Amino acid sequence: MAKIAILTGGGDCPGLNPVIRAVVRKAINEGYEVVGIKNGWKGLIENDFMPLDLASISGILPKGGTILGTSRTNPYKKESDLENLKENYKKLNLEALIAVGGEDTLGVASRLIKDGITNIVGIPKTIDNDLSCTDYTFGFDTAINIATECIDRLHTTAESHHRVIVVEVMGRHAGWIAVEAGIAGGADFILIPELPIDIDEVCNSIINRHKRGKTFSIIVVAEGAQFKEGSLITQEEKLDEFGHVRLGGIGERLAQEIEKRTGYETRVSVLGHIQRGGTPTAFDRILGTRFGVRAVELVLEKKFGRMVALSGNKIIDVPLENAVAALKTIDMELYAVAKVFFG
Ligand code: F6P
Repeated sequence: MAKIAILTGGGDCPGLNPVIRAVVRKAINEGYEVVGIKNGWKGLIENDFMPLDLASISGILPKGGTILGTSRTNPYKKESDLENLKENYKKLNLEALIAVGGEDTLGVASRLIKDGITNIVGIPKTIDNDLSCTDYTFGFDTAINIATECIDRLHTTAESHHRVIVVEVMGRHAGWIAVEAGIAGGADFILIPELPIDIDEVCNSIINRHKRGKTFSIIVVAEGAQFKEGSLITQEEKLDEFGHVRLGGIGERLAQEIEKRTGYETRVSVLGHIQRGGTPTAFDRILGTRFGVRAVELVLEKKFGRMVALSGNKIIDVPLENAVAALKTIDMELYAVAKVFFG
């Protein structure tokens, strides 16, 4: 029986289990055997996998996270890891590998294709929504709904105490979560990695708002935003295997500056991994399901080296290497909409 494998790599996000379920159901319908590689590329290096049958995917549709586990393992960091990966891949004797991930996991997939492991299909995942060639990645909708609810909750306490509250959301390279949750939650200023923070502009805007009678403000900042003159604020300097630092702390720095310059009492709330956990929204379940089914169809059609993607409301496929060539940063027309409500 021909065999398909699936792996999930990088930061987890709601919608991964609906993808796994869809891949397994569609593949079994088409007569394939399916194996799940555990913990992203790490599982292929260590030959760690599990059979995926109908029983193993039963009941996982509403569950967050991934039943396969994940890691930020980069097989290109160590030559012996790459060799083990290639050897184990060969032993598995696969018709195709479906890799579910963001810029790092799919970046590895794209390199492997160039290195001769050609029968790979990609599925785009990230709460950050920063992958190119797709209008949306699954996980993002859940993240912005969680962040919006948090902003709503922070509004009531900010208003009661007449405070400024800075809300730090995820978004390493792109401000999609900050902008969309900020628009939905009625943020009074939104700061994103794509635009340097002009602290005078932020404080003047808050002061003007208070002059017109408001006694509280909500400022949303993406973790990757930077002061004009500053650099990224990190929790530790250590780089992960893909060269990323662990971000976090810009909210606190911003809150200190705002309180110092405006005199308004300011608090900070860091949403962190809450944005990545829990049950996926209906949108993410449906998108993940559509991506999973289409990925198996691409295997049937022998269209390898492709990534499934959303264009408008249609599922399309694009060259994997195009999707990882550059990140999708914020649409400035959308940011202009958010700006209408600043101050
Ligand atoms: O890549 C998605 C993401 O959620 C980023 O927004 C964030 O910087 C990062 O993952 C956090 O990663 P970790 O879970 O490894 O701390």
